[in-house]
Amino acid sequence: MSFKLPIFDVKNLSFKIRDQIILENITFEIYEGEYIAIIGPNGGGKTTLIRLLLGLETPSSGEIKIFGQKLKNFKEWHKIGYVPQRATLVDENFPATVEDIVKMGRIAKRGLFAGASSEDRAKVHDAMVKMDILDLKNRMVGTLSGGQRQRVMIARALASSPKILILDEPNTGVDMLSQQRFYTLLAKLNKEENITILFITHDIGVIVDDIGRVFTINQKATICNDPKQILSCEEVSELYGINAHSLYNHKHEH
Ligand SMILES: Nc1ncnc2c1ncn2[C@@H]1O[C@H](COP(=O)(O)OP(=O)(O)O)[C@@H](O)[C@H]1O
Ligand SMILES: [Mg+2]
Repeated sequence: MSFKLPIFDVKNLSFKIRDQIILENITFEIYEGEYIAIIGPNGGGKTTLIRLLLGLETPSSGEIKIFGQKLKNFKEWHKIGYVPQRATLVDENFPATVEDIVKMGRIAKRGLFAGASSEDRAKVHDAMVKMDILDLKNRMVGTLSGGQRQRVMIARALASSPKILILDEPNTGVDMLSQQRFYTLLAKLNKEENITILFITHDIGVIVDDIGRVFTINQKATICNDPKQILSCEEVSELYGINAHSLYNHKHEH
């Protein structure tokens, strides 16, 4: 794979807040078509890592390239779909329909002041079809269930035709059945549309057959190339200072 240009190329990345080391010397590459899970304890730096990848925080040292370009020169943000942590927790009176929310995903592509084109409308429609929310398009987003909101947020991210989808624990307030359906949709996007997926989750036991690699982030990074071996991955146990089995039973509270 090394002859292909990585989507993300991260070298010796460190991030400090005042004197506190949050992330230390992180190096990895992410290639097109991969499905990677990021796991790690609360406060381990997972969200911070994603924010660094998106240019929302500035590294203390190290380098990030996106599609071969230095992050500060990178302009094609529509190629990256991002669903932040807690994105599904919208106010129940939030004044927007499902379709409005998905349309917002086109803004990065089209610019804030241009009118919607037929391409915009087609992409918004496609994204709603892919996420199975077309029948909800005129509903106010605040009236939806957690699982439905989750699919709306992914559809918004998909509307800009991203090459990579970055999801930061998108499961808050979502029941088990909806989660299963959601994982199936993600696997389909990865396999059938070749969309690269970077998924922060505590549920790796459930998606272990879908994912290609696992990154554990706890200030430092460990990369496991075979997710099925993760329980026996010594480095993971070391990193957590616990038996890696408990990763599977870890319930995330936010
Ligand atoms: N803006 C910030 N100011 C101060 N501390 C922060 C900030 N963002 C993150 N942190 C700290 O960085 C560490 C990693 O947090 P975070 O990236 O949210 O971890 P995770 O997503 O793995 O739970 C935590 O100790 C958190 O308190
Ligand atoms: Mg987080």
